[in-house]
Amino acid sequence: MAPKNFSSFIHSIWILLFVFGVASAQLTPDFYDKTCPGAFAAIDKVVRAAIANESRMGASLLRLQFHDCFVNGCDGSVLLDDTPTMKGEKTAAANNNSLRGFDVIDRIKAEVESLCPGVVSSLRAICPITGGDNNLAPLDTETPTVFDNGIYKDMMMEKGLLHSDQQFHNGGSTDSQVEGYSKNPEAFAADFGNAMIKMGNITPLTGTSGQIRLNCRKAN
Ligand SMILES: *[C@@H]1O[C@H](CO)[C@@H](O)[C@H](O)[C@H]1NC(C)=O
Ligand SMILES: *[C@@H]1O[C@H](CO)[C@@H](O)[C@H](O)[C@H]1NC(C)=O
Repeated sequence: MAPKNFSSFIHSIWILLFVFGVASAQLTPDFYDKTCPGAFAAIDKVVRAAIANESRMGASLLRLQFHDCFVNGCDGSVLLDDTPTMKGEKTAAANNNSLRGFDVIDRIKAEVESLCPGVVSSLRAICPITGGDNNLAPLDTETPTVFDNGIYKDMMMEKGLLHSDQQFHNGGSTDSQVEGYSKNPEAFAADFGNAMIKMGNITPLTGTSGQIRLNCRKAN
């Protein structure tokens, strides 16, 4: 395979799976076009350099991907180190001391992460595995202190903080609505106002069913 095809093969199928981790279920070849343009060029550079340094590395990387894909799918599982509770694929008898190219994957990761610090790494800083329970992360990274359509712009770039938000732009029937709001703040403001009014109309007590409180904090 020509180097160009080879490296696009490697990165289009694989890199998407593990460089930053993918929050949504859909994989697309253009996933990083907006969030990390230049990622593929960086990957290409590292893979080419590794093959120029040692031509056998091309075959080794192909084999690495093959072994990943043929154990429960192309999920990057071959990259996982063993832990006390999880035996990985790296040291399984058939692979031990035989699979190689992990150092190239590490170089790719380092190259891309300086290039694009990325949403995930910045969120990890705010929300470490332990502690930080009182830290705040903006739902809207564009304009966190302004009430506007910024969150839809985030969702368009796959940067929705909450999985449940990002699901609205995930290759489904609501994609066009998210796109519309991201481009049209007036439409968002009008629809939001109407939605709030609609919500306020959820079964209020009227007539003798309720009471006008003398003190808002307690029933009369
Ligand atoms: C070049 O290849 C050698 C093995 O032949 C390896 O030890 C070294 O880490 C490689 N360097 C780079 C930059 O890929
Ligand atoms: C893998 O190779 C290492 C180093 O040769 C050895 O210590 C280890 O026992 C091997 N593990 C398995 C599961 O074969």
